[in-house]
Amino acid sequence: MRTKRVLRLGCVLSITVLAAPLAQSANGKRTFRSDHLEADVVVLPTVFFPNEAEVAVLPFMKENAARFEGKTVLEIGTGSGIISLYAARLGARKVVATDINEQAVMNATLNARRLDLGDIIEARRVPASDITAFSVIRPDERFDVLISNPPYALDLDAKQNTPLTDRGDLGLSIVRGLDAHLNPGGVAILLYNSLFYHYVMVKFAKYEGFEVRNHGPAFFAPWEAETLFNDYLGHLLASEKMDPDAFRFDRHENEALDRIRVSSPHAPLFPGNSKKRYPGIIVIERSADAAARGTAGAP
Ligand SMILES: C[S@@+](CC[C@H](N)C(=O)[O-])C[C@H]1O[C@@H](n2cnc3c(N)ncnc32)[C@H](O)[C@@H]1O
Repeated sequence: MRTKRVLRLGCVLSITVLAAPLAQSANGKRTFRSDHLEADVVVLPTVFFPNEAEVAVLPFMKENAARFEGKTVLEIGTGSGIISLYAARLGARKVVATDINEQAVMNATLNARRLDLGDIIEARRVPASDITAFSVIRPDERFDVLISNPPYALDLDAKQNTPLTDRGDLGLSIVRGLDAHLNPGGVAILLYNSLFYHYVMVKFAKYEGFEVRNHGPAFFAPWEAETLFNDYLGHLLASEKMDPDAFRFDRHENEALDRIRVSSPHAPLFPGNSKKRYPGIIVIERSADAAARGTAGAP
């Protein structure tokens, strides 16, 4: 059953890929035309396709370009490197980009060199033995900006992280490491393109005493529905000594799910910018006077 689910995830990725402007070579290497970068981005096999970042993250970065100019940036889960490339293009002086996927680390390095940004972007491989957010960041390393489009389905039963699934090691560890690795006045920008995990992260960052501005995603993502139904309902069924597989939920068999939409109750993220909608972006501030930050447990 696990294998079936992985195959379904693969299916989602390939559908996404087909919808994007791409060219595929015989060795499986693809290219994506980024309008923001005004350049082609190479995408190696197994690496997350950059069209989502182009649509949902780069416009936000563009409108907040001052956040990046002359700054140090940490990108967690870089994939093809598109977010790091754009941070460098916006004037970041140093970008560290991490990923658990060795191909992604090679991919980000390759694109950085192709776009002549190799001196600014350094890609690091996160080892399977410790996939928490700062495992390849030195204890004394601090950044002005942390940015991430991380896996957005929280699945505590998952055997390993994938581009879409976080088995629970990554999300909370990002927030837990902000005091140690964000400079005072720094900011963490996270795209959680799923309703459930987005709100887990917002609540958790507030609980840890951070100021959070968030713009909730306006939909219930199909992959999170599958996680919620199959894994969490699965636990309940198992405790009732029933066969969880008898109730497995398949989003491809349930068209009604595509029609589930929830409206965001939140005010627009950017004052004076009310017509712009950024799906699922969370902005966590580390106050300039970081010592004055509230204690853990703040509402
Ligand atoms: C949704 S993809 C985003 C890729 C790229 N940043 C983009 O926006 O196109 C998430 C990425 O996070 C990586 N990833 C998953 N778990 C990770 C972890 N614990 N640490 C670092 N990267 C991780 C995946 O390999 C994948 O490349």
